[in-house]
This record gives sequence, structure tokens and C-alpha cells, in this order.
Amino acid sequence: MAFSILGTGSAVPAKVVTNADLSVFLDTNDEWISTRTGISERRVLTAESLTDLAAAAAERALAAANVHAAELDFILWTTLRGDQLFPSLSSRASGRSGASCPALDVNAACSGFLFALDVARAYFAAGLAKRMLIVCAEAMSRLVDWTDRSTAVLFGDAAGAVVLGPGEGPLALRLTTMCNEEWLVADVPSGNSPFAPYSPGSFVKMNGREVFKFAVSSIEKDIRLLCEQAGVSPEEVDLYLLHQANLRIIEAARERLNLPPERFPTNIQRYGNTSSATIPLLLDELARAGKIQNGQLLFFSAFGAGLATGSCLLRWEAYNKKEESA
Ligand SMILES: CC(C)(COP(=O)(O)OP(=O)(O)OC[C@H]1O[C@@H](n2cnc3c(N)ncnc32)[C@H](O)[C@@H]1OP(=O)(O)O)[C@@H](O)C(=O)NCCC(=O)NCCS
Repeated sequence: MAFSILGTGSAVPAKVVTNADLSVFLDTNDEWISTRTGISERRVLTAESLTDLAAAAAERALAAANVHAAELDFILWTTLRGDQLFPSLSSRASGRSGASCPALDVNAACSGFLFALDVARAYFAAGLAKRMLIVCAEAMSRLVDWTDRSTAVLFGDAAGAVVLGPGEGPLALRLTTMCNEEWLVADVPSGNSPFAPYSPGSFVKMNGREVFKFAVSSIEKDIRLLCEQAGVSPEEVDLYLLHQANLRIIEAARERLNLPPERFPTNIQRYGNTSSATIPLLLDELARAGKIQNGQLLFFSAFGAGLATGSCLLRWEAYNKKEESA
């Protein structure tokens, strides 16, 4: 027994920042950003906290799944950094959601959603949970250098969530982690220990070209591998929800597999790269718009700092499971 997705939710900050807004204080322009990345605008936290955003996404997913917070057995909150180092985002946002079950922060960078799905799969398989919640919440606007045009234009803030119940959704799931401290990194500041050298920390630093090449080949490899493991062909997968980091990455992976563009929905145009939140945010948009049918095959694939990657092929069985459990 593994899981099925019973409901989805998401939340984004109210503040919209367009490419034109960025060109006021950065040496950039709409033409460069949209042709090189596909991004037109992103959302940025202003008055809201990340906890607000995470709790709102959780509430919407719970309502969609018709599950009460008190029924949850475990919550995984994925984030690069919560509002405070401690208490964790888990403690703060769980409290806001009215849940009292154990909860854990997961940091697997942009692949956090897939790592959380794998942990959830193990909980369901071990019979340790009947209802779980995963919330991916990211405040990238706090991690990028707003004077660096090569990174600031790429990211945005958002939260996406899924409620899980017992089911047979995942057909194949694969995670990888390798140590690469050069291509995508943000350093934390050191403390003021008199016994160690001081370092001020850094915003996001990235070698975009290397990450681009790595991303395209890891997505292609995972699609071929997981489809083979599950005994389906890539042509049989109805929708590919890929990490929304760059439209050209998605396009390059799609071309390598020679698959039709309509199988690769995107919303990077409106949100940019929201790290671990991109896939659940896109999933929620599609589910709410009625664009996913029961029984369809979905493929999630993400990559990011670490380098860590995660992919999952699953059968969408959200709403029939919800009816069964009602
Ligand atoms: C970052 C990325 C968009 C850069 O696109 P690219 O086509 O590789 O562009 P390059 O880095 O080669 O830069 C090309 C030129 O554009 C310039 N440039 C970079 N950012 C710019 C911006 N925002 N506006 C205008 N010009 C910009 C560069 O300075 C460079 O100028 P030069 O030729 O005079 O040196 C692309 O490499 C990418 O998306 N990589 C993957 C990043 C990613 O996914 N990260 C998240 C992982 S979770």
C-alpha cells in the first residue's frame, strides 16, 4: 500500500513583480528574461510571512480533500528556509493549521516535493499513516541577490500542498543526491565564535549553464528509466509536470523524448522558479481547472541544489479515493 493524492492547494503572495519592474533597478529587460527563461512575472512576499503562505496552502488542500487537520498523522513541510531558524516552519505552520501530529521540515532544495513524497510512501507502506499532508513553501525572494541580474530574475515565492491517503498512486519513484558545492549554492553566515573564522554567508550563486545541462539530461534519464520500470512508454504518460525553472529546460527535455508540447503544462510564465513549490503549485492549478482526469498517468520531475533530483510516475486517482473514504 502506498498513497493517492486526495486534494491539492496552493497560495502565492499578492505582490506581482513583472520583468519591466525588474528592469527599473537591474540591467535587464523583458525580452531577455522571457526569451531565455519563459518568465514574465513572479510573486514576492511583502507583508505576509512564509508561515502565512504555507498555512494557506495547507488549508486549501485540506478543504479540497475533505480532511480535517486533526485527522492528519504526519506533515512534511519542504523549504529551503522558514521564517526563523527555529522554531521550524513545521512547528509554526502546523500550529496555524490546527494540526497536532508530528511534523518535519525537509530541505532537498527544488526537489523537496519528490523527497517528501518518498518519505510519505514509506509511512503508508509501513502502515504508520492514513492521512498525510505535504506542504512546499519557499521564500526565494529572501535568498537571491537583488543586485544580481543572472539569478534575481529567475525566482519567486509560493506554496503548494497535497493531502495524501492510502492508495496505489505511485508506480515508480526515484531520488538522487550528489555532492556539488559549486553550481548552485548559498552560504549561511558563520556565528561569532571566537574559535572559528568569520564568514558573512552569501545569497544564491549559480552556474546557470551547467545546471541547465544537468537538468535536461537528468529529466530525460528519469523519464526513460521510470517508464521502463513501470512498464509504460513515455507516450502513454498523459501529463509531465516538470520543475518550473526555465521553459527552455522543459522544451529541451521534451524534444529529446519527441513528445507533444500539450503534455507539458507550464505556469513558470506567472510565477518563475519557486523551488520545491513549483510542481504542487502547477498540480493544484491543473486539478482545480479540471485538467486532470482520474486514471491519467502523471510524471513529476525536479532537480536542484545538492545536486538533488527526484521523479515520480503516478496514476491520478484523487477523486474516486476521496469518494471511497467519505
Ligand atoms: C540562468 C540562465 C537563464 C542563463 O541563460 P543563458 O542562455 O545560459 O545565458 P548566459 O548565462 O550564457 O548569459 C548570456 C548573456 O546574458 C547576460 N545576462 C544574464 N542575465 C541577464 C539578465 N537578467 N538580463 C540581461 N542579460 C543577462 C549574461 O551576462 C551574458 O552576457 P555576455 O554574453 O555579455 O557575457 C540559464 O542558464 C538557466 O536557466 N540555467 C538553469 C538555471 C536553473 O534552472 N536554476 C535553478 C535550478 S533549481
